[in-house]
Amino acid sequence: MSEIETLSAQAMADIAAAASPDALETLRVGLLGKQGSITAQLKRLGTLPAEQRKVEGEAINRARDAIGQALAERKQVLEDAALDARLAGEAVDVTLAGRNDGRGGLHPITRTLERMTEIFARLGYELADGPEIEDDWHNFEALNFPPHHPARAMHDTFYFGDGRLLRTHTSGVQVRYMAEHAPPLRMIAAGKVYRSDSDQTHSPMFHQVEGLLVDEHSTFADLKGTLVEFVRAFFERDFEMRFRPSYFPFVEPGAEVDIAWQQPDGSTRWLEVLGCGMVHPNVLKASGIDPERYTGFAFGMGVERLAMLRYGVGDLRAFFDNDVRFLRQFA
Ligand code: FA5
Ligand code: MG
Repeated sequence: MSEIETLSAQAMADIAAAASPDALETLRVGLLGKQGSITAQLKRLGTLPAEQRKVEGEAINRARDAIGQALAERKQVLEDAALDARLAGEAVDVTLAGRNDGRGGLHPITRTLERMTEIFARLGYELADGPEIEDDWHNFEALNFPPHHPARAMHDTFYFGDGRLLRTHTSGVQVRYMAEHAPPLRMIAAGKVYRSDSDQTHSPMFHQVEGLLVDEHSTFADLKGTLVEFVRAFFERDFEMRFRPSYFPFVEPGAEVDIAWQQPDGSTRWLEVLGCGMVHPNVLKASGIDPERYTGFAFGMGVERLAMLRYGVGDLRAFFDNDVRFLRQFA
């Protein structure tokens, strides 16, 4: 075999064995680069006699072209293999089981609030709103609590010390609503209220839903019928309930409603869920409504208490511990 044939055969074997584009590039430089072995053969041609130069020149050129082509082909093979490997690594196996999407849910108190306001919306009550930071006038005075009235002590109020306070109930919204709406009127207001209070059935922040109806012929029987209907619609099953006379300065007469609460040991206990009554004439007067012509009823419901009974929760504070194991049960 001539020198160029030997060189060429070795080059072809090396190219076929090259395992990476880098190895291939090293080979190319070693063969066809400025200092390459094929290039050296071409340079050597100049020293040969003309006859020999023609024959060997053709052989070297053929070898060079063949090597060039082999390099290009091998390069293509290696690049295709690299691309295939990458695509295989990135492939998505659509037959694998899906990952849990961890969907959240509404808080049970939010759901209860929505449920309550929907029931009253169906009865034609308009949704109203008031501030959580309230003034003494709306939270107490316009509701017939004069300064130093003993009933103020029932509320464990958080005061700011400048006449403002965290509202202790949603009844202040009654005052705000009557200032802007003339009877006949029906309103519902839902929101957070605050009292310095905490045990199994009390929390320092809780929610109330306030209702107010004022027109020419409203009676205590209408109030009672409305609340009995509400309890039936809310629980969708029978709960024993009782009206118990009670005192609030802004109603006369006043009552509280208790619901029979099943205990884990099988006994029952009365749980107070709301206060209510006929709007006191002084409250109507403070809002510019003639108590000789109009009467009204009002109620303020404890949202957490109703949620406890509906969902069978034993401690009201569980709603605010934010334990996801508890909350997940409502999702
Ligand atoms: C009131 O707040 C009156 N404004 C209700 C009212 C409105 C009476 C209109 C007449 C006319 P009371 O303080 O009882 O009343 O609270 C109403 C309800 O809120 C209670 O029946 C109870 O269900 C709930 N509640 C009271 N304190 C707490 C507390 N600390 N944590 C959770 N729920 C409470
Ligand atoms: Mg009460």
